[in-house]
Amino acid sequence: MEINNDTLSNASSGEHSKHQNFKVPGLVSGFSKLNRNQRIDLLNTYLDEDAIDLLNAFLLPDEKVQQVISELSENFLSNYYLPFGVVPNVLINGQMYMVPMVIEESSVVAAASRAAGFWAKNGGFSVRVIDNLKKGQVHFTWSGSERFLKSVFLHIKEQILADTAPVTANMELRGGGIVDVELLSLSHKLENYYQLDVTFKTADAMGANFINTCLETMAVTLSNFMSQYSDKGQLEIIMSILSNYTPQCLVECTVTCPVEKLEAMSGAYLPQEFARRFALAIKMAQVDVSRAVTHNKGIYNGIDGVVLATGNDWRAIEAAGHAFAARKGTYSALSDVEIVDGYFKYTISLPLAVGTVGGLTKNHPIAAFALKMLRNPSANSLMQITAAMGMANNFSAVASLVTSGIQKGHMKMHLVNMLNQLGASDLQKEAARKFFANKTVSFAMVSDFFKKCN
Ligand code: MEV
Repeated sequence: MEINNDTLSNASSGEHSKHQNFKVPGLVSGFSKLNRNQRIDLLNTYLDEDAIDLLNAFLLPDEKVQQVISELSENFLSNYYLPFGVVPNVLINGQMYMVPMVIEESSVVAAASRAAGFWAKNGGFSVRVIDNLKKGQVHFTWSGSERFLKSVFLHIKEQILADTAPVTANMELRGGGIVDVELLSLSHKLENYYQLDVTFKTADAMGANFINTCLETMAVTLSNFMSQYSDKGQLEIIMSILSNYTPQCLVECTVTCPVEKLEAMSGAYLPQEFARRFALAIKMAQVDVSRAVTHNKGIYNGIDGVVLATGNDWRAIEAAGHAFAARKGTYSALSDVEIVDGYFKYTISLPLAVGTVGGLTKNHPIAAFALKMLRNPSANSLMQITAAMGMANNFSAVASLVTSGIQKGHMKMHLVNMLNQLGASDLQKEAARKFFANKTVSFAMVSDFFKKCN
């Protein structure tokens, strides 16, 4: 598509913002039909700088790989890089892993590495998958009687299983398929609202496409079947979609050691004092939502890093985890702690619907490499590894919080970001590292140091 005059004049007629030194774009039509150069031209009509050099500088030299990335989503302009790092010494159920992580927060890999190293010497992470079931629903309304709908449901179910058989055949060969189809009435919450509530096993796939295809097939079957009873009521399909709430796709990770072994993490505190303070911090996160959200965010620092590195859907994982944290009616910590008979035992339980086949896992070369680093795990193994990294980050964060505080380590890791922001050379960075080795780091102090050494 050509950029038409309307499009250009709309974009360039944007007014200069009062507060910022750039124009606001006007209404653009047909943007997704433009090619990349046209999109950038259009951007240049309202940006007061040439975007093309910057956006081109971040393209990959391998055109084939670049094309895979470019085609992942619409309106592609350039790549957006994040660091791909690794956490060594992750001992999970007796197996050692080097775990890949993609994360922008400078202290996360360091925090995970610290905890992983500690637990590798103290029995490692014990992780078990409690279940690996997914759900999806056909949401519909039925104006007739609930009793009638229930009376014909077994026939509907039979027909549904027959109609979805071609869709599920392959998945069944891989150990997955439809586990159950239930009829739920939600008409006490919303007039005439019902669901086909379907449970799936999706083997090593996250299974979104499989589930949605099954559900859409079921919706047609349901609608066709009920059309013969139009004298009894009207059935209207509203939508068919998987649920990202996956409380039956649950994993539990535990670490345990004699309390005295915690000395390596206890800073200025005796290990017994450290354990007591740690346990209190967890109880606080269990009873107070302000603390619980931050506590769980610390867990997701580790989880999202692995989820992103392995090409999984971190929005789905986060949404499920936070809903699970609120399952009892109040948002709470996803972890629990016990100190019994001189032993410290710390446990995290959360839903983790990850996949190791399909989606980005093969398409994205770095995601495929990340899975290779993990010895091409099954979905269950990836759930275990991911949960362990959530535990590692959370354990490290809480250990710091109840001893030295978080800022000391965090700001040390952040030092290089501040120096980069100030445009420091390698020599200046080295000098700053030495200067701040035993000092508290703040942006004011770093920029002061930078001014002096310029
Ligand atoms: C920072 O990214 C994460 C922490 O805030 C987590 C926590 O407070 O437990 C340190």
